[in-house]
Amino acid sequence: MIKLAQPQAQRLVLLLAGAVRSVLLYPGSHPAVVQQFAHLGSHVTELLRAYPEVRIGIIDGVLFCENHLFFTPTAAEEELAALLTNRHVEAVAFRAGLTPLELERFVELLTRRELLGEQLVAEVKRAGIAAISVELCGSGATEDHSQGDDEYDPGTTYREALDVVTGLFSEVEKGRIPSSDKLRGVVDRMATMIMQDRATLLGLAMIKDYDNYTFCHSVNVGILSMSLGAAAGLQRDELGELGMAGFLHDVGKTRVEITILNKPGRLSSDEYERMKMHSEEGARIVGEMPGVGERIARAVLGHHIRFDRAGYPESARALAFDRFCDIIAVADCYDAITTLRVYKSPLNPKDALLKLRSLAGSHLDSGLVQAFTEMMGRYPVGTLVRLDTNEVAVVFRPDPNGGERPVVKVVADPAGRLLDPAHMKNLARETGTRIVSVVDPLMTAIDVNRYLG
Ligand SMILES: [Fe+2]
Ligand SMILES: [Fe+2]
Repeated sequence: MIKLAQPQAQRLVLLLAGAVRSVLLYPGSHPAVVQQFAHLGSHVTELLRAYPEVRIGIIDGVLFCENHLFFTPTAAEEELAALLTNRHVEAVAFRAGLTPLELERFVELLTRRELLGEQLVAEVKRAGIAAISVELCGSGATEDHSQGDDEYDPGTTYREALDVVTGLFSEVEKGRIPSSDKLRGVVDRMATMIMQDRATLLGLAMIKDYDNYTFCHSVNVGILSMSLGAAAGLQRDELGELGMAGFLHDVGKTRVEITILNKPGRLSSDEYERMKMHSEEGARIVGEMPGVGERIARAVLGHHIRFDRAGYPESARALAFDRFCDIIAVADCYDAITTLRVYKSPLNPKDALLKLRSLAGSHLDSGLVQAFTEMMGRYPVGTLVRLDTNEVAVVFRPDPNGGERPVVKVVADPAGRLLDPAHMKNLARETGTRIVSVVDPLMTAIDVNRYLG
């Protein structure tokens, strides 16, 4: 056994765990995966310059890296330990001569849940990865605890959230007090994904469903709130609570007549008063839900109270409202103004950000509007753009460096023919291609929605 310095061991475990997680969460070409492997590759190369071999594994149920044991693993390290155990792997040895490509290939194999024990060893051999050896547990018969890797697939998670919210709202409509368990499950998963990478669900939060407005809006506001909360520095636990409040902020609308909710044109003052009741109704419903704390109910009550506290409910203006209200208000406003409604046409993402700025300081918290604008990037997610290749693309993820080079989905070729399926282009990596203009989706036959899922 070699004597590795604690920070070196810690970093190796952290990077390997992060790489495994990124492979489970994203497609291989995703910038999060590429970046993670770049860091892992260079760290392993550096270690193998100093040592002939470095081992990571499980001993008595505890993750180790050479002479260091990880008794208090992070969530990602715990996942790595569980993965090794589930695959019947006792230790993995990285040896001198290992290339970054081999390392990447190995991690991909490790994440394939069907490759247990000998099958994994055989695949590693077949892939020609000579500088990694896999040592199996004595019996090779460890129980398989592997969970569905789909669990962290963004699209699957979004659809599940939509189902959960739809079911929950329909329970409320029937006059029942719904359980919050399923919602908490999906919110917690989303919070984990957002902590890992706050842009991961942003593209999905731009999905608009005119026929399912309230449900879709609720899910989008939940995601946008959590993403903004992460950008504003909230911790993991708070993010889950904020997400719950975001998903539930408009649950009180189940008590407002559909004719008022869908009325084209302006509401009469009576109708407006009725509509305004949804904050208090929502807070009451949420307050009765088991397992949902006071902070969530308070955020629901105050989601229209405005930053200057001149909003509604008027009777609640003197109450103390925390940051949750201000975060949800930004997310709520953005989703509402970018969505086609019975009475309003939507703003494109860029104009919507300008609109948010015009409301900063009065309706909305200026600092949060700034953080939201930075999070969405120079070309906000959901924007239709033309590239200098004359291809048309939908912005899918902001530029990780905050610049003008987002990840896009190319949806039309240079001749204007729609592509099916669309393909991803990471402009941060394909530096020869750039965005030349924003395209108005209404002037094309392109349904942006289709490409966000
Ligand atoms: Fe509302
Ligand atoms: Fe809302």
